[in-house]
Amino acid sequence: MSDTDFIPQMRPLFGADERAELLSYLDEDGFFTEFKRTEAFEAEIARYTGARHCVVVNNGTVSLTLAAAALGIGPGDEVICPDYTMIATPNSVQMLGAKPVFVDVEPDTLVMDVALAERAITPRTKAIMLVSANGRAPRAGIATFEALSQRTGIALIEDAAQSLGSWYADGRHVGRAGRIGSFSFSAPKIISTGQGGALITDDDALAARLRKLKDFGRSGGGNDVHDSIGWNFKFTELQACVGLAQMRQLPDRVVRKKAIWRRYAERLAGVSGYRLFDHDLALCTPWFIDGVAERRDELAAHLKARGIGTRTMYPPIHRQKAYDLPGDHPVAEHIGRDGLWLPSMIQLTDAQIDRICGEIAAFYG
Ligand SMILES: Cc1ncc(COP(=O)(O)O)c(C=O)c1O
Repeated sequence: MSDTDFIPQMRPLFGADERAELLSYLDEDGFFTEFKRTEAFEAEIARYTGARHCVVVNNGTVSLTLAAAALGIGPGDEVICPDYTMIATPNSVQMLGAKPVFVDVEPDTLVMDVALAERAITPRTKAIMLVSANGRAPRAGIATFEALSQRTGIALIEDAAQSLGSWYADGRHVGRAGRIGSFSFSAPKIISTGQGGALITDDDALAARLRKLKDFGRSGGGNDVHDSIGWNFKFTELQACVGLAQMRQLPDRVVRKKAIWRRYAERLAGVSGYRLFDHDLALCTPWFIDGVAERRDELAAHLKARGIGTRTMYPPIHRQKAYDLPGDHPVAEHIGRDGLWLPSMIQLTDAQIDRICGEIAAFYG
């Protein structure tokens, strides 16, 4: 891509390494469904995050459904979710007949506000689904949510779909503080397998339950004896080949993602109309470049006319037609109104970032 071509907001990056992994697998006459490559990919995710177990599934939505199911969540139960998130978070528990209950997020981290989460607890609350928005931790630390979970007995599930490569201040990888942490490998993520998801946990029994539930509830490897309901949420070896190659690139991608954010921050420092959300780069790897823009839609149109793609940030979920709930969540509403993701792909060049920031500065005069 030359520096004057259209700059998409995001596109995945696959190359020679992925091709070599795939070709080597194709020479093996395998079944394509999950097997040794998948085990190796799971081991890589477990090693990288420091988790005892990793179980991969077909995407980062059913991973959340599976996590909730493994924790016994079902019809009539309530799960507290942030109002600012990708809609997969609440939909994942809706699929089990549970009811997502929405609370607002912190204005600086975009992570669920722990005081509001506590206030939303009812006798039906079974879990809190904490989304580490763009890799960020709660402002007062993850310990606040762990303490709430311990005090109330309500399970903490971490939706860390956007957070591979981000750590908590205590040195744990994001996703490791909850009973189960979930990741997504959809096309825009820091590493991708096209579609894909992963669950991490340190709990042996929970890991065994996740494996069983994702394989039709089978009581043993490959048999047709089912002592519980289960589904088919399995991975494929082709995804695992790509994932193994992508995992080798992850350390470099983490470095580059941080450098991209830093350059945006420097170039936009004097531009009053667009404000980046902050990141602690010592811990957090910004997956997307997120910020709020004055005259957001006009800015997006201005950039588009100049060959620069953007994406409006998630609308508040309670206002989406799919939910259409009453409620007042001013931070989520503000992000839905003014939030704009700038080009964030790993292959973005410094010259392209300078061009994007120059256009934003020109727009605001
Ligand atoms: C916070 C969050 N949760 C869940 C998902 C769903 O992941 P997937 O697209 O792999 O189903 C995403 C995807 O963008 C996400 O950002």
